[in-house]
Amino acid sequence: MTDIGEWQGGVGRSWADEHARTDRSFSRMTPHLLAAIHEEQARYVVDIGCGAGELSLALARGRPDAMVTGVDVSADLVAAASARAAGLENVRFAVADASTWQPEQAPDLYVSRHGVMFFPEPPAAFAHLSAIAAPGARIVFSCFRTPRENRWASGIASLLPESGASVSNPSPTSADPFAPGPFAFADPDHVRTCLRGWRDVTFTPVDFDYIAGAGPDAVAEALAFFGRIGPAARAIRVMSEAERPAFLERLANLLESHRSGDVVSFPAAVWLVRATAE
Ligand SMILES: C[S@@+](CC[C@H](N)C(=O)[O-])C[C@H]1O[C@@H](n2cnc3c(N)ncnc32)[C@H](O)[C@@H]1O
Repeated sequence: MTDIGEWQGGVGRSWADEHARTDRSFSRMTPHLLAAIHEEQARYVVDIGCGAGELSLALARGRPDAMVTGVDVSADLVAAASARAAGLENVRFAVADASTWQPEQAPDLYVSRHGVMFFPEPPAAFAHLSAIAAPGARIVFSCFRTPRENRWASGIASLLPESGASVSNPSPTSADPFAPGPFAFADPDHVRTCLRGWRDVTFTPVDFDYIAGAGPDAVAEALAFFGRIGPAARAIRVMSEAERPAFLERLANLLESHRSGDVVSFPAAVWLVRATAE
């Protein structure tokens, strides 16, 4: 579970600091999402949970005739996104909760790279997004499929000491599979329920290599990344000093077993979800 308060605080700060590595981790998936987005017409695009803005910036550059707004609850991430947008006229960023935010004009396209699984009340959030949208507006977003299909997550979960796994739900195999978090939208039936009031809901699976680290010391790179972002970072925060060295050693071994040359990567799997507002 990752709640809004965490994104507004330290988790958002870590993502802002690590945006180059997070963009790299998704680099084999983002082109699929952008291709799906470019199939849609749009004059005013809203990027939900835009983070440090890679998707917003790519859209603004690829569609100079469209306006793009990235919305995120983290002031640190919006500051990082704004700094990266220098010189681009058709993109702006807002610190706001997208589930209640009021735009100045009606969006005709919503996009999101893994930003919509953190709504505490997804049906209400998607109903709001539909209500403020232009008639027939579209949404295109990516979200992880199951932890089993995302070996970076299931691999980390298998390394967690008992105490770490039981505190604050760092495990992706949490008791409540629909709690806000990276895997909350793994089940298409649940996503359809959240998108009630939207029509033409489709799911396209994309499998890709999730890049955890790269370069001459790819394992150290990946360790630095996983130490700040995601379930390993959360576990490290909550586990005892005594548990930490053994966990880091197990993590380094896992990363080494997924290293090929100068890249550490894991099999990963997402849905590309598309729908139309009523
Ligand atoms: C997994 S990150 C993805 C960030 C970015 N889209 C990317 O691909 O790098 C999820 C993002 O959603 C944001 N977020 C979570 N809940 C939100 C909400 N209710 N409204 C707007 N942003 C939200 C977080 O602050 C975070 O930046």
